[in-house]
Amino acid sequence: MIKDLAVKNRSYRAYDRSRRITRQELVDLVDMTRYVASSVNDQPLKYYIACDEKDVAKVQKMTVWAKGLPELNLPYPGTEPVAFVVICIDENLRVGGRNYLRDVGAVAQTMLLAAVEKGLGGIMIGSIMKDSLKQFFNMPDNVEPNLVVAFGKPAEEIVLTECKDGNTKYYRNAEGNIHYVPKRSLDDILMN
Ligand SMILES: Cc1cc2nc3c(=O)[nH]c(=O)nc-3n(C[C@H](O)[C@H](O)[C@H](O)COP(=O)(O)O)c2cc1C
Repeated sequence: MIKDLAVKNRSYRAYDRSRRITRQELVDLVDMTRYVASSVNDQPLKYYIACDEKDVAKVQKMTVWAKGLPELNLPYPGTEPVAFVVICIDENLRVGGRNYLRDVGAVAQTMLLAAVEKGLGGIMIGSIMKDSLKQFFNMPDNVEPNLVVAFGKPAEEIVLTECKDGNTKYYRNAEGNIHYVPKRSLDDILMN
């Protein structure tokens, strides 16, 4: 059920690295994005994928994780994701001043839900070193990385909690292995 998938689709920051993800599995995720809605149907998004161990380790260094818990330096060594998809905007396909950030979000969520359906999981990473990514993947000048999505088999516990006093900050237990994510209530978000 889509609701079960949506609830299970948390932002995971620890993975079981014994479950590798093949290039074909990533290609299938990218293929699925072709069916996602796009502003005025411009479809300006392009993708780069990484699943080779060495490439993944390099891309990992171009991402910043859990700014809300800087002292933990997530992901813990040995629990890094095993694959990445870099979502890019092709500036040659940009029409007028149109902003495609909503397109990016829609494809990212679609790929993540599909990954969860396969027993995998992931996380969107917006804090990225764009210049390093461009150089690493040898991207043409007109292609701009916008969002990185990491994938792997989740290996950590994430607990959704009720948001109290408007505080949405995520936090962990003392051992740093259970991640709590406060969510606003339906009453808080439904305005009419
Ligand atoms: C557009 C977007 C960008 C994000 N960028 C980062 C990021 O750079 N680093 C990170 O650790 N998490 C990032 N996240 C994950 C959020 O921190 C996460 O969604 C939030 O804490 C709520 O957790 P949940 O996804 O499990 O509900 C991003 C999420 C979104 C939607």
